[in-house]
Amino acid sequence: MTILAARAVAHANIALAKYWGKHDAARNLTAVPSLSLTLDGLRTKTEILFDAGLAGDEAFVGDRPLTERPLERVVALIDQLRAMTGVTLRARVTSTNSFPTASGLASSASGFAALALAGARALGLSLSPSELSALARSASASAARSVFGGFVALEAGAEAAVPVAPQDHWNVVMLVAVVTRGAKGVASSEGMGHTARTSPYYRAWVDSAPEVFQEVRRAVQERDLEALGEAMEHSTLLMHACMLASRPSLFYLTPSTLGALDTVRSLRRTGSAAYFTMDAGPHVKVLTLPAHAEQVAHALEVVPGVVEVLSCRPGPAAHEVGADTRP
Ligand code: DP6
Repeated sequence: MTILAARAVAHANIALAKYWGKHDAARNLTAVPSLSLTLDGLRTKTEILFDAGLAGDEAFVGDRPLTERPLERVVALIDQLRAMTGVTLRARVTSTNSFPTASGLASSASGFAALALAGARALGLSLSPSELSALARSASASAARSVFGGFVALEAGAEAAVPVAPQDHWNVVMLVAVVTRGAKGVASSEGMGHTARTSPYYRAWVDSAPEVFQEVRRAVQERDLEALGEAMEHSTLLMHACMLASRPSLFYLTPSTLGALDTVRSLRRTGSAAYFTMDAGPHVKVLTLPAHAEQVAHALEVVPGVVEVLSCRPGPAAHEVGADTRP
C-alpha cells in the first residue's frame, strides 16, 4: 500500500509592520506590505501522510480534528500539491504546537508554513524557499513569512515573502503576554473583509501602511530599537484604529490588554527599552533587548489578567525533521 510521509517544523512570526486587508481575496494577496520576526519559542510541527487507505483528507491540531472552513483551507493547500505532482492520494495531517493552544495565539502562520514544506517533501517536490512561501501564502498570508527565519518582508500584492535580515542579525527579545480571554471571535480573513467593507478608516490605513513599513525595515536594518519600536507601535495602533472603526466594531482590546500597554509605557518612562504590538486578539507582544527582558517580563506578569509571559528570540526558517523530533 502506498504511503508517502514527511514532517516539518515552522515557527510563528509576529508582524512588526502589520498586514490587514487583501488586495486580491481569491488569491490571498495582501493590500499592504508587512514585516515580521520569526520566533524561536513558538513552534509548530506538522506531519503529513498521503495514504492509499484514506477515503478523504483529515487534519488534526493536537487531538482536535479540523472541520468546515479550517479543514477546507488545509485541503486547498494539499490540492495544490496534488495538482503539481499528479498524485491523487488522500492525506492525514497532524499538527502540534509547542505553545499553549488554549492561549489563542495565532498558529496559522507556523501551521501552514510547516504544512507547505512537509507536503512538498512527502511528494518529492523540491520547491525553492520562495515557491514554498508562495504556497503557504495562498493558505494564509502571514504563513508566507514563517517559511523564512529572522526578519522577513511580504510586499503588498507579492506572491512570496523575502528575507530582510537573518536570525542572528539582531538579538532582540519578544515577550508575549498571554491575556485571559484568548479565543478569537472572528477569523482574520473574515475580519479583514469586514474592515474593508465597513471601516471609514480602511483607505487611510492602506495609504499610510507603506511608509510605516519602510520605517520598520530601515530600523531593523540599522538595529535601531527606538525607531523600530515607535514605528511598530504606530503600525499596530493604525491597524487597531481601522478595526475599531468598522461596523459592528472589531474590538479585541480587554482591560488586561490596556493594562499591559500602560505597563510598557511606564517602563519606557523609567528607562527600559520596551515597545508593544498586538494582533487580532487581546494578547500583547513586547519587543525589548536581552538586558531589559527580565524586568519587562516581571512587570507584565503582574498585570491583572495576564496569565503567562512567553519569552522568544529570533527563530529559524521552516525545516524538515525526522519522525521522532519533539513538537
Ligand atoms: C493581525 O495571515 O492570519 O496577525 O491571510 O487571511 O490567513 P489570512 O490572515 P492572517 O492575518 C494576520 C494578521 C495579523 C497581522 C500580521 O500578521 O501581519
